[in-house]
Amino acid sequence: MFDHRKSAYFLTCVSVLLLAGRAASAQNALYSAEARQRAEALLKQMTIEEKVGQMNESSGRVMQGLGDKPDDLIAQGGVGSILWQNDVKEINRLQRIAVEKSRLHIPILFGYDVIHGYRTTFPVPLAMASSWDPAVEEEAQRFAAVDTRAAGIQMTFTPMVDIARDARWGRIVEGAGEDPYLGAAMARAQVRGFQGTTLNEKSVIVSVKHFAGYGAAEGGRDYDSAYIPEELMHNVYLKPFHAAAEQGAACFMSAYMDLNDVPATGNRWLLTDVLKKEWGFQGFVLSDAFAVRSLATHHFASDPADAAYKAVTAGLDMDMGSLTYSKNLAKLVKDGKLTEAQIDAAVLPILAIKFQLGLFEHPYLDESKVDATLNRPEGLTLARRLAARSMVLLKNDARTLPLNGGLKKVAVIGSLADSRVDIEGGWTVEGLFGEGGKSHPVTVLAGIRNRLGAGAQVAYVGGPTPQKVFPGFFDALIGRKITPPPSETEVAGVLSKVKSAAADAEAVIAVLGESTDMNGEAASRATLDLPGIQQKMLEAAAASGKPVIVVLLNGRPLDLRPAAPHARAILEAWYPGTEGGNAVADVLFGDVNPGGKLPLSWPRAAGQEPLYYNHTRTHAPEDEPGFTSRYWDLDSKPLYPFGYGLSYTAFQFTNLRLSKTSIRTNEATEVAVDVKNTGSVAGDAVAQIYIHQRSGSASRPVRELKGFRRVALKPGETQTLKFPLGKEELQFWSPATRKWAVEPAAFDVWAGEDSTASLHAELRVVTP
Ligand code: NOJ
Repeated sequence: MFDHRKSAYFLTCVSVLLLAGRAASAQNALYSAEARQRAEALLKQMTIEEKVGQMNESSGRVMQGLGDKPDDLIAQGGVGSILWQNDVKEINRLQRIAVEKSRLHIPILFGYDVIHGYRTTFPVPLAMASSWDPAVEEEAQRFAAVDTRAAGIQMTFTPMVDIARDARWGRIVEGAGEDPYLGAAMARAQVRGFQGTTLNEKSVIVSVKHFAGYGAAEGGRDYDSAYIPEELMHNVYLKPFHAAAEQGAACFMSAYMDLNDVPATGNRWLLTDVLKKEWGFQGFVLSDAFAVRSLATHHFASDPADAAYKAVTAGLDMDMGSLTYSKNLAKLVKDGKLTEAQIDAAVLPILAIKFQLGLFEHPYLDESKVDATLNRPEGLTLARRLAARSMVLLKNDARTLPLNGGLKKVAVIGSLADSRVDIEGGWTVEGLFGEGGKSHPVTVLAGIRNRLGAGAQVAYVGGPTPQKVFPGFFDALIGRKITPPPSETEVAGVLSKVKSAAADAEAVIAVLGESTDMNGEAASRATLDLPGIQQKMLEAAAASGKPVIVVLLNGRPLDLRPAAPHARAILEAWYPGTEGGNAVADVLFGDVNPGGKLPLSWPRAAGQEPLYYNHTRTHAPEDEPGFTSRYWDLDSKPLYPFGYGLSYTAFQFTNLRLSKTSIRTNEATEVAVDVKNTGSVAGDAVAQIYIHQRSGSASRPVRELKGFRRVALKPGETQTLKFPLGKEELQFWSPATRKWAVEPAAFDVWAGEDSTASLHAELRVVTP
């Protein structure tokens, strides 16, 4: 048997010498020279079939067309990684086949979509981005990483760092919204959370997805083509990906769609020229599920062999689920169409990362410890704190919120209010099956009951599930049936119950939004309306004259124009996770002062999409007189701007100044601003810095976020916050010069609470 440990000792000595001579690159820290040397030594012993095996990620569940469990293939060394398997006994059983029965005893890397928690579910990614606090993301993902590794999984298919400028696109819920700067900060935090600062036996490797441009799907239809000019790729869509690569991400996942007519999974410019050459990425590129095979569906490849050829030569190292590599690569090498060196280049980082993760030394999970880890009680405290930090207060007329904790009669309406699936959101490992699974989500109804205690009456009127019209993939997965819309008699019955519950209550809490399966993968919408009879229920409640507070559970911004006039307050909770109901109550009753901000521009209607604040100015800006860039029938501004969110206190921004008001293109200045809590309760302000370059080799966005910080301020307290403005913030990729550069120009600088901030200063950048 090949002894990995003995060879490791020898190689450590060699690697110390080699390390000293390695050229600096963005990803030097990804795996040690020792891990690399062990991988190289192993590679020398492998047959071409075994090498191709490492490039195959097989499904751990029986999937249509994939046959039975992959036992035989594993024993032949044909499986490098397995996804969609989270049964701990089965993981160990499959691993045992790889380690004990395969010729070279190479352990399997197990991957799973651990997106926002494992058993304890944290807020969905869009919500975490709403915290404007990367530390929140990092803490959540660190916690999830410990759970994940204990459960025998070493790779997660997160973070999704796709910029989303169109709320019709259902996957907007999985990312950090529309902004590249905020997105980059959240991407870095998630890589740190899962992997740590260096890869080791405690790390879970990330797969940064979906590389790249997936969020720009035409018409907001998931999987549809994206047309993105190179300047927009560099200045917007690639930014969070680059940040993740610089942070040391070990794996990138290629996207499904055509990017400028070349599918991302076979796109050499993207995978090789940008990622591997320009950014010096040292990890491996994994396809999205079945995306190698679907290169033929795109009519980009002529058949599966051509798909395998095109993917591997583009720089795609591991085939997720489609077995296209397994069936074709060895023959392509034997036929002389591919060289063995091309295969080696793909396999080396996969093996090196397995060594670096300590998988060869510790291939098995300890089944006796899994539950204790996954049930760590501190997870619930963390989930509750993070959920409350992620909520955004959109409206609060006449200080309706916070509610008085001494209320004796409250009505809660809406079927989402007591849905355990819909409090957690999509992509939960154990929670999606929560109705019969292992997580114990707290619904909004339960959270309110917990907060008010036995002395209060909390009446509940559910009503029909706000669901989509067509059944989808997840409906089958969670066993949810699409029921026909309620009859007129049923609707009348629900509305009359709402009316009497509201009449009898001191306040009504209407929990409205979308069921979880209305957003996420393959869940695009043509309208952003509140689905079902929710609007009618809201109006019936408001007709009582009692204060109605809307709590939104949703994965995308919705058209709130009809709803907003009937609500005195609106709290955006997104899908807040396992402790979501308690966290909603914390905010509604003022135990937590909301400090979240929108990571996107909130549209008035779907017709405005794509909608984003960092657009260019046009020939006829909307705010100038005459013919302007606007709709005849709708304000073209968002309902709530990017960066917006209210608090139970108020903040004042003053004294914006620059340490130098004129700098050379190779210099930096510092922005300082004073932020004061002018109200009577403590609260969190999120200071935001925006810039605009007034002329140059290309038109630049009207505003771009270039700094932010969330700070806690006591009543009356003032803090001075400082932000650098230098190359990193001022440069852009110009389509005229096809280069990154800081250009000499006048720049506007704004500081404030959202992207409409008016506190202004000016910076002049001159040639050296
Ligand atoms: C398809 C999705 O697009 C991707 O985000 C996910 O990670 C994989 N399936 C694996 O579940």
